[in-house]
Parts: sequence; structure tokens; C-alpha cells
Amino acid sequence: MDISLFFHKRPHEIKEKSSKRFNKWSLKYDKSILQFFVFRRSHDVFFENIVQDHAAQRILDVGCGTGEFAVKLKKHKKDVRVFGIDISSDMINIAKAKAKVNANMDIDFRVGDVDHMPYEDNYFDYITCAHSFHHYPHKKKAMREMFRVLRNNGKVMIIDGYKDGLLGKFIFDFIIKKHEVHVHHLRSGQFRRLLTNVGFKNIVQTTFNPIIPLLFTKGVAIKEAIW
Ligand SMILES: C[S@@+](CC[C@H](N)C(=O)[O-])C[C@H]1O[C@@H](n2cnc3c(N)ncnc32)[C@H](O)[C@@H]1O
Repeated sequence: MDISLFFHKRPHEIKEKSSKRFNKWSLKYDKSILQFFVFRRSHDVFFENIVQDHAAQRILDVGCGTGEFAVKLKKHKKDVRVFGIDISSDMINIAKAKAKVNANMDIDFRVGDVDHMPYEDNYFDYITCAHSFHHYPHKKKAMREMFRVLRNNGKVMIIDGYKDGLLGKFIFDFIIKKHEVHVHHLRSGQFRRLLTNVGFKNIVQTTFNPIIPLLFTKGVAIKEAIW
């Protein structure tokens, strides 16, 4: 789905706006009340899903923002190579500074767009993506790109607003859209179809955080048959 169709904006204009918005927000981002009510709770869900997997070697956080999750992960899984990519250069600068003050952690943070990621095919064991997907104008392209860089049997985990119910619809389609304008949250069924269409299997979805409802979607990249 190309959300630019809804807004009469070209995808690159939407991305530019997104990058400017987050550049502006970057200095205050870690102090936002949303860290407590939304972002950290999502990071905990990713963490619980990854922490017991001792075989994972490379993990990428897409739309990594100020690197909160990447740093948390690296702290607990020192042998894993952690990567983060984000379209906002100021968010990435903060992420890099955070890694540096945390004992000079070796995390590969890069500025980049989810639609064209600078990684080779079949590279990652996991991709995580928290509260970023609703910003992507080319949702299918973004998902295909995630599939491309995951190895066979690699896992994608995405968390975003859950808007199947009335409360979520009000929060994400009304309040957030009014504030962020060029964003579009998917319903759970749309997420499931999108993953299935690009080749993910074993899709699992759960919801959590009832006050600001969130949707966790996980899928496995099965490549043998088509790659
Ligand atoms: C709400 S923040 C979430 C940051 C982080 N995942 C967290 O949990 O704190 C959304 C992030 O998505 C990034 N983003 C938006 N569009 C992007 C794109 N096309 N490619 C990569 N990152 C993007 C923004 O720059 C921003 O840092």
C-alpha cells in the first residue's frame, strides 16, 4: 500500500517531512512521556522474544531512533552484532553518542531509508521495528526490503499502534494523524496480509498495553522455495 496516494504527496516528500520532524524532536525524544507509556514497553516485548535465542548473531533495529533498544540489547547480549538504521540523522547522532557513553559499545548505527537498506541479502537473524512502520509511504517495499536482508528462517518483529478497536482507531487515526499528518497505521489483518504477500510465514500477532493499544506482529522469512 502506497500511503502517498491518500495524501497527494510524493513518497520522498513524506520521508523528508518525517526526517525533519524527528531531527527536530531528537533532543527531547528520550525525555518524552511516551518513553514510559509506549516505547520502552515495546522494547521489552522485543527483548523477551530475543533474549533466549543464543544462536542469533546479527540483529537490525529499523527506524531505531535514538538507539534505546539497540543499546539495551547490546548491554545484555554482548556477543551479538547489533545494527540500527534511521532516516533522521539527528536521531542517529544521539544513538551514536549513547553507544559511546555506554563503554564505547560497538553498534553499527547508520542514517538510511527502510526502502533501500545498505545491507547484503540474507544477512540478519532478526529485524525489529518499533513505532516506525506507520511512517513508511511504501509499506510493501519496506516489508520486501526487510525480507531481503533477513536470512532464511530469520524473524521480523514489528510493533505499532493497534487500531482494530474504537479506542485505537481514535488514538491512531485521529489524534496521531492530526499531529503527524502523513502517517498511516495498518489494521492487524492488513499487517498479516502484507507479511504473507512478501513471503513471511508462521505469523503471530498479539496485542498489549490496553490504554494505548499496541500490536505485535512476528513472521519468519522462509526463503528456500523462492530464493
Ligand atoms: C517514533 S520513532 C521510534 C524510534 C524507535 N524505534 C523507538 O522505539 O524509540 C520513529 C522513527 O522512525 C524513523 N523513520 C521514519 N521513516 C523512516 C524511513 N523511511 N526509514 C527509516 N527510518 C524511518 C524516524 O526517523 C523515527 O526515528
